Amino acid sequence: MEAVVDHVVNHLVTALDQERFKPLGMATGRTMEPFYAALIQRLATWPSPQFEQLKRCWLSFNLDEYVGLPPEDSRSFAAYMHTQLGCHLDLSHCQLQLPDGMAKDSAEEARRYGSALHEAGGIGLQLLGLGGNGHVGFNEPPSQPGSGCRVVTLEQATRIQNASAFGGNPEEVPEQAITLGLDEILAADEIHLIVTGAAKAEILRTALLDPCSAEVPASWLQRHSAVHLWVDDAASAHLPMLS
Ligand code: GLP
Repeated sequence: MEAVVDHVVNHLVTALDQERFKPLGMATGRTMEPFYAALIQRLATWPSPQFEQLKRCWLSFNLDEYVGLPPEDSRSFAAYMHTQLGCHLDLSHCQLQLPDGMAKDSAEEARRYGSALHEAGGIGLQLLGLGGNGHVGFNEPPSQPGSGCRVVTLEQATRIQNASAFGGNPEEVPEQAITLGLDEILAADEIHLIVTGAAKAEILRTALLDPCSAEVPASWLQRHSAVHLWVDDAASAHLPMLS
C-alpha cells in the first residue's frame, strides 16, 4: 500500500502547489482500508500549514452508496468514509460527497449526483477496488462503458461478498445501490486499481487480458490510457507479465 500512497500523496502535493484541486474519486471495501490507514499516517507527517491547506481544499466523490441506508448507519459507505478518512481530516459532508441512499427518488438522486460531479469538473484521480464478479463501483455485469450514474440492483454474489458488514447475512445487504457509471469512471484523468488476495487473481486476469466485455465491467478499464495497477503477489498470480 505504501507505493500507491506515495503516488497519491505526490498527486496531492502537486494539486495543492498548483492550486488546482480536481475532485478525487474514492472507493470503499476491505481492500481500501489499509490504504486509508496508510494515507492518514503519511499526511500526519506533513507540516501543519500544508496539512491545513489540504483539509481546506479537499473535495472527493465516492463511487457508490447503498439505497436505504442513512449516513449514520455504520454499514453505509458514508459512515465508512467518515470513519476511515473524514474524521481524521475534519472533512465536512460537502467535501466528502456520496450519493444519498435515503433520497425519496433514487433515480433522481443518481442524476443529481452525476450532475454534481460533472459540474465539479469530473474526477482527477480515481481509486478503484475490484468486485469478485468484476464490478467496479457497483457497475454490476452487464455494464456498458457508456453507462452513467444510476440505480443498480446488486447481484447475489455481491451481496454475499459484502455480507460481512451486515452480520454475515447476505439478505441484510440492500438490494439496490446508486453508483457512478463507467462513463464517469473512464472520464477520470488517471485510475488506480488496487487488488489484493488470491480470491481476486482470476477475475483480475480476465479483466485485464480477455477482450473487453459487459460481463466483466472492469475489463473496460483496458480502454483507459492511464490505469495504474497496484497488486500484491496473491492477486497477480495469474498475470503472466508479473509472475
Ligand atoms: C464493493 C464496492 C466496490 C469495492 C468492491 C471490492 O462492493 N462497491 O467499490 O471496490 O466491492 O470490495 P472488497 O475490497 O471488500 O473486496
